[in-house]
Amino acid sequence: MRIDIITVSPELIKSPFEHSILKRAQDKGKVEIHFHDLREYAINKYGKIDDYQFGGGAGMVLMVEPIDKCISKLMKEREYDEVIYMTPDAQTLNQQTANLLSAKGNLIILTGHYKGVDQRVRDKFVTKEISIGDYVLSGGELAAAVLCDAVIRLIPGVLGDETSALTDSFQDNLLAPPVFTRPAEYKGMKVPEILLSGNFPKIDEWRHEQALKRTQLIRPDLLKGESKDE
Ligand code: ADE
Repeated sequence: MRIDIITVSPELIKSPFEHSILKRAQDKGKVEIHFHDLREYAINKYGKIDDYQFGGGAGMVLMVEPIDKCISKLMKEREYDEVIYMTPDAQTLNQQTANLLSAKGNLIILTGHYKGVDQRVRDKFVTKEISIGDYVLSGGELAAAVLCDAVIRLIPGVLGDETSALTDSFQDNLLAPPVFTRPAEYKGMKVPEILLSGNFPKIDEWRHEQALKRTQLIRPDLLKGESKDE
């Protein structure tokens, strides 16, 4: 997979890709990440990429021309499966979307800033708009990092233990069950007996029950198949 991230703050988004699973995925050749500084496509030598909005109102809007230049250059070089725009006024990211995107080849992710991008960018270039939640961040960079993490860890071969992504919360519309490690007792707090029993069919059953209970309590909407994130 190849991901091209267009941003006004490359430095803000680079660091999550230099550590842990995201770094390992790149080292293993599972994904290539390329950052593009929108200012390199500015409309003048002063690096202009934004302007006031027509009709008045506070906040600057990213202009169509620099984004057009950047995306058009990339599209001449290769075909892209999706051009994703990170914005709070979109459908919320969920595991199903992450699963679908993890099977794609080439993605462009455009991150907004200020009041967002000129609507003509969204109309002409963007194929998918994603929010990471009902709150407003200062820019789309952190949201893009969240999206990339959720997607890249699902690419086959990225996680050492293939089953661990499959047993994540949400893969079966259930939250994950509680987990415990050594010691079996800490300050009087005991690990549930069943987990120490070695009876793996019973352990699976217990985990499923716990996952159901937790989901019923915290996210009952998932059980009705009507996730509020969809
Ligand atoms: N940009 C600003 N806020 C955002 C959000 N919640 N999701 C995606 N992109 C954003």
